[in-house]
Amino acid sequence: MSNKYTFPKGFWWGSATSGPQSEGNFNKPHKSVFDYWYEIEPEAFFNKVGPEVTSNFYNSYKEDLAMLKEIGLNSFRTSIQWTRLIKDLETGEPDKDAIRFYNDVIDETIKNGMVPVMNLHHFDLPVELYDKYSGWESKHVVELFVKFAETAFKLFSDRVKYWTTFNEPMVVVEGQYIYQFHYPKVVDGKKAMQVLYNINLASAKAIKKFRELGFNKEGGQIGIVLNLTPAYPRSNSEEDLNASKIADTIFNYSFLDPAVKGEFPSLLVELLKEDDVLWEGTGEEIDIIKENTIDFLGVNYYQPRRVMAKKYIVEDEEYWMPHKYFDYYDMPGKRMNPYRGWEIYPQSMYDIAINIRDNYNNIPWYISENGMGVEGEEKYRDENGEIQDVYRIEFFEEHLQYLHKGIEEGSNCFGFHSWTPIDCWSWSNAYKNRYGYIGLDLETQTKKIKKSGKWIKEVSKNNGF
Ligand code: GAL
Repeated sequence: MSNKYTFPKGFWWGSATSGPQSEGNFNKPHKSVFDYWYEIEPEAFFNKVGPEVTSNFYNSYKEDLAMLKEIGLNSFRTSIQWTRLIKDLETGEPDKDAIRFYNDVIDETIKNGMVPVMNLHHFDLPVELYDKYSGWESKHVVELFVKFAETAFKLFSDRVKYWTTFNEPMVVVEGQYIYQFHYPKVVDGKKAMQVLYNINLASAKAIKKFRELGFNKEGGQIGIVLNLTPAYPRSNSEEDLNASKIADTIFNYSFLDPAVKGEFPSLLVELLKEDDVLWEGTGEEIDIIKENTIDFLGVNYYQPRRVMAKKYIVEDEEYWMPHKYFDYYDMPGKRMNPYRGWEIYPQSMYDIAINIRDNYNNIPWYISENGMGVEGEEKYRDENGEIQDVYRIEFFEEHLQYLHKGIEEGSNCFGFHSWTPIDCWSWSNAYKNRYGYIGLDLETQTKKIKKSGKWIKEVSKNNGF
């Protein structure tokens, strides 16, 4: 059968997870902010399911990775947990068991025919660094992150050729410092903007270290994974357009511009200055950001952001908030994923592709996450016990069609990773919504391929559909 949509040669058909969402806490020398949050407030997590066991990857990685091969994946991203790899957070000295574990995970990934992509930070700051130094508010923590990164590069770069520094750093800013959906649930715009700056700096410094160590000369590449949520205005009025421009600048370009172009958007700097919430930084740091841009970009795309001009100007809010510049627009007739509460809008795949092509030097990039979280998938099991997740297949095919169009028009996209290979733990949503090609029975930890797992195997084999 010939394809309607064929993708470029060597295209990545893979899937992504992260350490804290799949491994379980077994043998970790430190606790992350999530481990700690669950200890003090288990009721904040769906059905009070915490991060202790998650999908048991720490114990079952061999079988799990073999299943990923079975569904035809040729690449796989996970993350190295800071709280697992590093025994001494100040010096960056690694933990022996963690070295064994990650070495084995990498070797097994390669043995199963998959390119390993390793990420270094997936929301999982060691809680001690929050207690001692206020976490990402501190430049000392930036230095400690670079030590952690250096340790990881030295241990694993002989086999890991694709590294990413951060996953969705904007979520750290929003969740921990503005909108209170991640511990420590601070509401403080000024601190939020310092964190935004410090994480950009941490990423650039880690990239600098990678290159100083010469791993780029041995075929290594380093990038970042950003959640891009393209802003769409309610109308083409000047006010609505301006609202969407500001939303894009704050939520997307505040990491995308420094990562790709080495500078913060001037509009962002102007607004923050005017509002007196600009970060503290030095000329030397700005140079580091300028000189250490990424080799490739990972884009997580789930949903767009609909905005409109502010209805009422609210002055004197106690804290600076990004939405002082726009209101969210509840567009009539939008398609929703009711479980996750996210709009479904596949067209953004094309818009992102063209934006990168035209405004970001057409840098090599890939979709590093895209997926559909569904609650209660058990009800879709057929008589053979296979989950018939046709909605997921349709979701992916629609998104891939728009991605394909962007690639046809010259966007430099080299792969598509779904979220996620095996159902995993989703932060405070825990196991509410399932995303995997492979289903997980949480009680027995048994894993079974869904219909979408068979679908991706065909897509990967045919390099399209
Ligand atoms: C992303 C995040 C993942 C996963 C996914 C689905 O924003 O990177 O860790 O939780 O959402 O909820």
